Amino acid sequence: MINVSIYLSHSLVSDELVLKDKNVVVIDTLRAASTIIAALANGAKEVIPAESATVAARIAKGSGKSLLCGERNGKIIEGFDLGNSPFEYSSEKIKGKSLVFCTTNGTVSITKAKHSKSCVLAGFINITSVIDYLIELKEDFVILCSGKLNNFCTEDAVTAGVILSEIISRGSKSDYFIKDSEYVCIKLGKLLAVKNGKIDFDRILDMQKKSEHGKYLMSIGFGTDLEFCSKIDTHPYLPVFRNGIIKLRETFESEAKNKSNMKRINISNKIIE
Ligand code: MLT
Repeated sequence: MINVSIYLSHSLVSDELVLKDKNVVVIDTLRAASTIIAALANGAKEVIPAESATVAARIAKGSGKSLLCGERNGKIIEGFDLGNSPFEYSSEKIKGKSLVFCTTNGTVSITKAKHSKSCVLAGFINITSVIDYLIELKEDFVILCSGKLNNFCTEDAVTAGVILSEIISRGSKSDYFIKDSEYVCIKLGKLLAVKNGKIDFDRILDMQKKSEHGKYLMSIGFGTDLEFCSKIDTHPYLPVFRNGIIKLRETFESEAKNKSNMKRINISNKIIE
């Protein structure tokens, strides 16, 4: 039996120990998770999430050529290099760069998972990669919805529900132990993001346009971000948060491979000496 828990806001995670040794999926569909996924897909070296602008500035100061990125009230923070719109993260601007990232809810959630056993980021733009990963994992997991200002938000709950219902539909219902939040998210996901049994862009976009944060983003000129964040599987990657940094899973894997190859070379050189 696999235990699944959905937290509907990061405020329900009182401190970092709550998620210690857990497998965690962090969702911030509008927009932090989607923007971070896009930035890594466009070649950013890594993303360092920070829980506050002050912490972000301190990290960036100590880490040379990094870019300071993030938002308050959806807008770029004064003195920062980039805001939180995925369209700002083109390869030309960010390729090979470390991005120190601070957002109102998303990066707060991510940093709460710093003692987790594993942590990945999810939005609609990488949803199937996350579903496949969780099915492969075959372990208990927690979905942490970032929410909005310590509260529930529709788009994160719907994303969580779609992930969970797709996973359950690929296995047996009795394999998963779910409670009220999970049950309601599944229902919401089916109602607001699925059409004729398939995850549906138009439904998702409509849901995001009607959501509190979606309406706010449109009012400050970020309507096209809603479309970007409603697209399904445009970025089939798995961003992993490990040891304080986020990189694509494949980057972590190739770095580990290179490290073990280097070790082997060092050992064989010693043998020859
Ligand atoms: C957040 O972390 O609160 C969001 O990503 C806000 C935003 O849309 O910029």
